Amino acid sequence: MISLGIETSCDDTSIGIVKDNTKVLACITQSSQEFHKKFGGIVPEIAHRKHFESIDKVLIKVLKKAKVSLKKIDVICVTKEPGLIGSLLVGINFAKALSFSLNKPLIFVNHLHAHLYPVFFRKVKPSFPFIGLVASGGHTNLFLVESFNKIYNIGKTRDDAAGEAFDKVAKILNLGFPGGPIIDKISKNIKKTSFRFTYAKLEGTLDFSFSGIKTAILYKVKELGERIDMRIKKLICAGFQNSVIESLVYKCKKALNKYHINTLVIGGGVGANSLLRKKIKELKKDGIKVYLSPLKYCSDNGANTAGFGGRLFYS
Ligand code: KG4
Ligand code: ZN
Repeated sequence: MISLGIETSCDDTSIGIVKDNTKVLACITQSSQEFHKKFGGIVPEIAHRKHFESIDKVLIKVLKKAKVSLKKIDVICVTKEPGLIGSLLVGINFAKALSFSLNKPLIFVNHLHAHLYPVFFRKVKPSFPFIGLVASGGHTNLFLVESFNKIYNIGKTRDDAAGEAFDKVAKILNLGFPGGPIIDKISKNIKKTSFRFTYAKLEGTLDFSFSGIKTAILYKVKELGERIDMRIKKLICAGFQNSVIESLVYKCKKALNKYHINTLVIGGGVGANSLLRKKIKELKKDGIKVYLSPLKYCSDNGANTAGFGGRLFYS
């Protein structure tokens, strides 16, 4: 069974081809990130136009790389929500046209659910039920996952997404875009920082809040004024990252306890963060089985959409 997945929810035009929902034959992603850089965030109108320019070329490339012809595709899967509406529409209409012309079934996929799927590309796969954390540039959600089509949202951010906070803090510190990988990299060698930023625990809920940390950094930068140099920026980044990651891990533990579950799956762009991966792996000593998305499938990509959509089709 071969599924083709189309993902255009944000700035990446990505198409993946997956065999039997477990083997990625090819995945091609064309990002429009360089066109957004000077704005310090994604500009929906630019993202939309770039998808429109790239999508057919990405399809041709991915078919070639997977050595598969369109006739061999059994099911077309596409991200339906959530995402930027103009961007989603390019993928959805392209998928509809493919499905209609090839006379193949069309499956709509929830993008957040698909972010939990790449762990199923690994040799050792999680078993149900599990708690899933999706931390990306637009969302931060906790899910109770009972099966591929029984996924319940049990917590979410009340303001900024975790990745959005990384991006905004990098912007405040003038470090570039997207902020996540930059902050991750420059914080790596910092063993100790005196900068501590408390995060809202929102006790009694599994919700997150990151806008307070971002605002605290904004005030700190104003307070430091001229004294701020690269060394101080790095220390601030490390303090910020510690706080965001601690908050994510704290809520994962709360969710595991609340639902008496001992399996945790991590997905989404922030799932690539090295400190988060380290802290999540440390949960193993408490008897938690942890499954981290392979690095190359943390960010938006069509392979996740193809794999998850293929599963939905067969269930
Ligand atoms: O999942 P994704 O590719 O797109 C969305 O669905 O939003 O996530 C993109 C987000 C960006 O905010 C980016 O800064 C963040 O993921 N990100 C990271 C890292 N790599 C990407 N955040 C922290 N550490 C990283 N290593
Ligand atoms: Zn995403």
